[in-house]
Amino acid sequence: MTGCVILAGGAGKRMKSERPKVLCEVLRKPMLGWVLDAAGEFGFDKTGVVTGFRRELTEEYVSAYGDGISTYFQPEQKGTGDAVKQALDLISSVERVCVLCGDAPFIDSDTLKRSLEFHISSKAFVTVITAEIENPAGYGRIIREGEKFAAIREQKDCSPIEEKICEVNSGAYWFESKALIDALPKLQNNNASGEFYLTDCVEIIGNAAAFKSGNPEIVLGANSRKALLELNEKARQKILDRLMDEGVNFISTDGIIIGADVKIGCDSTVLPNTVILGNTVIGKGCEIGANSHIEDCIIGDNVILNNVQAYSSTIEDDVKIGPFAQLRPGTVIRRGVKIGDFVEIKNSDIGENTSVAHLTYLGDSDVGRGVNFGCGCVTANYDGINKYRTEIGSHAFIGCNTNLIAPVKVGENATTAAGSTITKEVPANSLAVERGQTRIIENWQKNFQRKKK
Ligand code: UD1
Ligand code: MG
Repeated sequence: MTGCVILAGGAGKRMKSERPKVLCEVLRKPMLGWVLDAAGEFGFDKTGVVTGFRRELTEEYVSAYGDGISTYFQPEQKGTGDAVKQALDLISSVERVCVLCGDAPFIDSDTLKRSLEFHISSKAFVTVITAEIENPAGYGRIIREGEKFAAIREQKDCSPIEEKICEVNSGAYWFESKALIDALPKLQNNNASGEFYLTDCVEIIGNAAAFKSGNPEIVLGANSRKALLELNEKARQKILDRLMDEGVNFISTDGIIIGADVKIGCDSTVLPNTVILGNTVIGKGCEIGANSHIEDCIIGDNVILNNVQAYSSTIEDDVKIGPFAQLRPGTVIRRGVKIGDFVEIKNSDIGENTSVAHLTYLGDSDVGRGVNFGCGCVTANYDGINKYRTEIGSHAFIGCNTNLIAPVKVGENATTAAGSTITKEVPANSLAVERGQTRIIENWQKNFQRKKK
């Protein structure tokens, strides 16, 4: 059985945050989420997270992330060795345990698999995952005696010669559980930081190996905002590269941020200043942007979104939206719909080929196919206490500046006259007019001027 312990208790003083450092985000996903993803893909029998500073926030994130992940509380942040001690229950219930840092988001399941094979074949009791990087400042250095791996030396405890070593500790390790359990009580805090370093276990255990990854990115961690920005930039480019390999088109990548879990089909183009996040899936041949923000949406093929904000919504094939439109959660836009400027749609189902061209709010509405909305229509869905639905049948024609006071129904093929406030059901095929008659007062301007004099 294999277990995984993710260290996430540190305050992250250098990050200057009121939240735990591991909740600082890379591409809008907490660093801890990236590490949990890698652990999930590897498929450990047991996974635990050590919490500490503002534990309630980390616990909340972990429980929302998914089932079956336990948390262990470290009351005082006395170092990575002390953090691991808190998870002894998990460690003693598995044969082998992998320790990961919650602030090093680019560790991946492939590296974990290959390092485990190396760990088993080398018969070591502890294997450290390492990599060579250009700027090793801040990382623990890998001390070798000849080729043999001997120790990890933290930056603060390095001699000037050791500081020049570019092979560094990723903060990810494989331990035989028994060896780790024996070593933990022997850790001392007589070092430059006065902390119990997990890294000292290497010398205590003795039978240690180092698995050097060819991919230097896996070691990168963020202890400061500057390092976090660097991770964001690296992750951003990595995702853009992956999408281009999959046939996604970019004219310029300026201001384009795409989350790690987003999927986009071939021949789709993403235009500048567009942010696409969450579990968004976009089909083929779409044009997304410029200046759009799309989060947790399912989007079909050949969709055009120009200056659109869309959240937790579904957009079917051949839809055109924008410029300057917003889809709020729970919206379904069916095939061939056209939505124009300054339109907001919330929690509504808009039927095929319907057109909502300008300055309209549709909330809590079920709209049929081929409906035409004139300019400036509003569904009044909220009476200050409750929300109500509006139903509009297929091929209805909603005149300009119609107010639909929900709950209300407009039948198929019905028409509402421009400027009407509709408060009762409009039967199919009928016209509803709710407005005063036009009165004409002759020569009004002339009489008015005379009065003023
Ligand atoms: C650690 C390693 C260093 C390695 C680097 C990789 C040690 C002593 N050093 O340094 O060799 O190169 O990671 O990123 O382990 N944490 C707790 N409780 C604590 C202290 C830390 O849970 O008391 C957690 C932190 O939240 C963090 C992780 O452990 O997620 C690593 O701690 P951090 O302080 O970032 O260690 P580094 O200085 O980065
Ligand atoms: Mg760190």
